[in-house]
Amino acid sequence: MRVGVPREIKTHEHRVGLTPASAREVRAHGHEVIVERGGGLGAGVTDAEYAAAGARLVDTADEVFASADLVVKVKEPQAIERKKLRPGQALFTFLHLAPDPDQARDLVASGAVAIAYETVTSPQGTLPLLTPMSEIAGRMSIHVGATCLEKSRGGRGTLLSGLPGVAAGKVVILGGGVVGTNAAYVATGLGAEVVVMDRSPEAMRRTAAQFGARVKTVMALGELVAEHVFTAHLVIGAVLIPGARAPRLVTRDMLGRMKQGAVLVDVAIDQGGCFETSRPTTHADPTYIVDGVVHYCVANMPGGVPRTSAFALNNATLPYVLQLADRGWKGALAADPHLRNGLNVCEGRVTHPQVAEALRLPYTDPKTLLGAP
Ligand SMILES: NC(=O)c1ccc[n+]([C@@H]2O[C@H](COP(=O)([O-])OP(=O)(O)OC[C@H]3O[C@@H](n4cnc5c(N)ncnc54)[C@H](O)[C@@H]3O)[C@@H](O)[C@H]2O)c1
Repeated sequence: MRVGVPREIKTHEHRVGLTPASAREVRAHGHEVIVERGGGLGAGVTDAEYAAAGARLVDTADEVFASADLVVKVKEPQAIERKKLRPGQALFTFLHLAPDPDQARDLVASGAVAIAYETVTSPQGTLPLLTPMSEIAGRMSIHVGATCLEKSRGGRGTLLSGLPGVAAGKVVILGGGVVGTNAAYVATGLGAEVVVMDRSPEAMRRTAAQFGARVKTVMALGELVAEHVFTAHLVIGAVLIPGARAPRLVTRDMLGRMKQGAVLVDVAIDQGGCFETSRPTTHADPTYIVDGVVHYCVANMPGGVPRTSAFALNNATLPYVLQLADRGWKGALAADPHLRNGLNVCEGRVTHPQVAEALRLPYTDPKTLLGAP
């Protein structure tokens, strides 16, 4: 099979679908890998590294799309890329189709087989191709929060780690899931005082088992959230109620009772944010101040570290890329119900129930198309 990797063309996207190490694995399984020249540069990967991994470099995206049986990307195909797709060609990438009717229409019209990273599931019921992005955002939230605490950024002028004879900063993490525990990992590493608040006893048990006495776990009831937020230097918003808007845990009124120069990092901004005063920001202009409290609300935090993100994403996607290449999309999707959950559009039909519902398009059960049991 021919696996193709075009250069990403969406604005500010610097990741790449396959790293050289992944390309080498795909080659070792007996497949051809075609990479558009310059495709890895944003992630700090050179053409020479792809060539050394056995990939064939081509000059244009047209050549990649024209010859690949399976196209591996990062972002949803842009309008110009969608025109290059052909019937029966497989596409494996983030799609986020539900709010994007134009893309859905083009993918249906293309006759291609579009498999979305974000809807692939694991036997544990998690979304394994989204997990690495939450891990990165969680770890990054402490880096960016620590920087925002500097005076020149409008922060309180507190060094999170403290030092001998001076108290460490207090970090309050709202939500003890993937983002929250990864934030706690970096915050405890710095020596900060760390509190993780959640509504799920199971999440708190997991957090306590992982961090022991280095982290205090507290039930996220309104009064307790307020008490800890008022004494925090840095608050991380990391809650998620799947399929729903993030709950607002910190209201505007509460800002006035926080420390002046404290910092709010709202990782949950992609679900509407868990602070009332949050609004999405960008890496180019990441912060603003309300009532003396610095807000950082970048909606695509992993985009700030594209090299790490590309490698982390590849670690998660490679097993599926190999399944698709080894068995062909039909065989791979028929054999693995979790990969099949990633199938959003298949040869002109919408095959994901939530995508069909959101776009008011007819839904086709992929099992009927694949002859799967
Ligand atoms: N900004 C970014 O770049 C970026 C990147 C990755 C993830 N995210 C977002 O971060 C958020 C968290 O993701 P995750 O992977 O950690 O999710 P997760 O499901 O692993 O964890 C969410 C946690 O929030 C808890 N929770 C739910 N309601 C709560 C409440 N009212 N009070 C306290 N805790 C509550 C849940 O019990 C769970 O433990 C999501 O909105 C995700 O989309 C953003």
